[in-house]
Amino acid sequence: MSVESVQDGVQDLKVNEENQDEQQEDIVDPWNVASSSTAGVNYEKLIIKFGSSKIDEELLTRMEKIIQQPVHYFLRRGIFFSHRDMHTILNLYESKKPFFLYTGRGPSSEAMHLGHLIPFMFTKWLQDVFHVPLVIQMTDDEKFLWKDLTLEEANRLAYENAKDIIACGFDPEKTFLFSNFDFMGQCSNFYKNICRIQKCVNVNQVKNIFGFSDADCIGKIGFPAIQAAPSFSSTFPFIFDNRKDIPCLIPCAIDQDPYFRLTRDVAPRLGLQKPALLHSIFFPALQGAKSKMSASDANSSIFLTDTPKQIKDKINKYAFSGGGQTVEEHRAKGGNCDIDVSFQYLKFFMDNDERLEEIRKTYSSGELLTGFLKKELIEVLQKLVADHQQRRSQVTEEVVRQFMQPRKLKFAFSS
Ligand code: TRP
Repeated sequence: MSVESVQDGVQDLKVNEENQDEQQEDIVDPWNVASSSTAGVNYEKLIIKFGSSKIDEELLTRMEKIIQQPVHYFLRRGIFFSHRDMHTILNLYESKKPFFLYTGRGPSSEAMHLGHLIPFMFTKWLQDVFHVPLVIQMTDDEKFLWKDLTLEEANRLAYENAKDIIACGFDPEKTFLFSNFDFMGQCSNFYKNICRIQKCVNVNQVKNIFGFSDADCIGKIGFPAIQAAPSFSSTFPFIFDNRKDIPCLIPCAIDQDPYFRLTRDVAPRLGLQKPALLHSIFFPALQGAKSKMSASDANSSIFLTDTPKQIKDKINKYAFSGGGQTVEEHRAKGGNCDIDVSFQYLKFFMDNDERLEEIRKTYSSGELLTGFLKKELIEVLQKLVADHQQRRSQVTEEVVRQFMQPRKLKFAFSS
């Protein structure tokens, strides 16, 4: 193992010791997110445990200077809160050197939910401000291996979800979207890079990183290399003119970081660049921030296919409230925005900073009642979902084919 992963291990131990007398430690891996605290996962601790860096004021100020515009409110509000090597990416952009974006989705359900939108909304913003190409991996193979799905069904879901992703507004001239099952047969570089990565990692290492057991099917053990491969420009010779030295930036939720710690570990041994990362927090379940929104629990989620009435009913019925039990109690003590799910959702989806701050103040003081907070959220979400549905309805099979066609992307090579 390299120094980086050994250090991660040492930090792990330290955090464990410190935590012994406290509450139970948060669980965060690609399959589970659980916290015993109503305020959700302790992200400061997670940064130490994973060995990543906090997105601080200095980084944001530098970014604004370089892109000559305000950063996305996801950055200002700490929704993307952690990074690896983002300064390196800014250095590249400053010196007009190319890089590319990579993100992905495991298509496990027909309907995507609000939480799934977060990385894609943010990736679109990155594509727009940096004018860079983007590759989007649909891991239908992953969901076939992990879930009770036939291969054909997983592949079909990849194409259904692709429509929702395209509806987020990506530039067709700069975006390549692929299903692993289909792309594997189209591009031998993909499989070659997977094998190169697989040769660098032993079973013991993936067991340590991902917790696989001897009873897991062997496909799972090989999969991390498949998620790692798109981090390298040589996987896409048709986009990058066979160059293997173009660095990659990966926006993702922090639960995906174990895959990319592994990727960063093997990269130098293959003579390739380590991918940089931007990590987001999780989108809370309606019932509260102890768990994230999950498509397999319909009552915890608002789907992109929900009607205005469904949205209204779910928020009113299930959204965990940080307000007082009675109007009197609320007026006297005020609401707790840190645990109030409706307020948290507004933080993700209300782009008006002044209005959000006004809501925070008046809800905390007890002036604004939970019912009104929910009403405002319902309006925001009904509009967001209806707009999404409208854009998705314009994504035809032909448009999907266009995005999924291996081809050159618009890409200014300065050097
Ligand atoms: N494993 C991810 C999921 O289950 C999908 C994924 C593949 C991904 N490559 C990625 C997510 C890169 C973020 C970045 O959803």
